[in-house]
Amino acid sequence: MKSGSISDGRAPVCRSMEQRDLDGVMLLAASATEIQTGTSSPQFWDKEALAKWATSELGVLLVCEVDGRLGGFIIAAYNPISRDGYIHCIVVSSQCRRSGIGETLLARAEKELISRGCNHMFGLVKPKNEASIRLLEKRSFSRGQQFVYWEKSESRDRDEAKDVRSRKARNTKEASSK
Ligand SMILES: CC(C)(COP(=O)(O)OP(=O)(O)OC[C@H]1O[C@@H](n2cnc3c(N)ncnc32)[C@H](O)[C@@H]1OP(=O)(O)O)[C@@H](O)C(=O)NCCC(=O)NCCS
Repeated sequence: MKSGSISDGRAPVCRSMEQRDLDGVMLLAASATEIQTGTSSPQFWDKEALAKWATSELGVLLVCEVDGRLGGFIIAAYNPISRDGYIHCIVVSSQCRRSGIGETLLARAEKELISRGCNHMFGLVKPKNEASIRLLEKRSFSRGQQFVYWEKSESRDRDEAKDVRSRKARNTKEASSK
């Protein structure tokens, strides 16, 4: 990290994401329009999912603390079968940008993924997100073609509603056959 460029206080600390970080991580994520997909689905994970993911072998979730405050975070997922590492998002708070935090987080996440067996890392960045593109190029990621983001959500509420409907239909059928 670039020395002395963020504050005159303690040196930034990069470490695993913990339960105590989650509120700050969620707030920081909500402030970053660059990671929004433009669809109507929730744009980030809830606290419960993050907490489980942070302690899973399938997750690499790191934060960087600056003077005891959240300076940035990275979230990546590891698939041990395909050996792919997917970089979901990196966000650095606007006050801490251009101080080396993004690069430090990415380098640490890469190292962690590789240590688990990962041999291919990739991610998505909006085409005009110059800061991220430069960061990825600096870390020797290659730029590929542009894709359009697609998604389909299956809501738990909808599944539960479907279960209730089929239960009701079964009960009605049983009752009428008696
Ligand atoms: C992208 C982002 C994470 C970079 O974090 P950062 O801590 O400011 O980046 P760093 O200080 O580590 O910069 C590392 C390199 O990235 C590039 N870079 C970072 N910000 C840049 C900018 N605004 N313009 C051009 N290049 C930039 C540079 O190559 C830089 O190296 P240099 O300082 O030697 O020139 C940060 O801008 C951010 O949080 N953006 C919003 C969220 C986002 O877009 N996330 C990525 C998609 S998931």
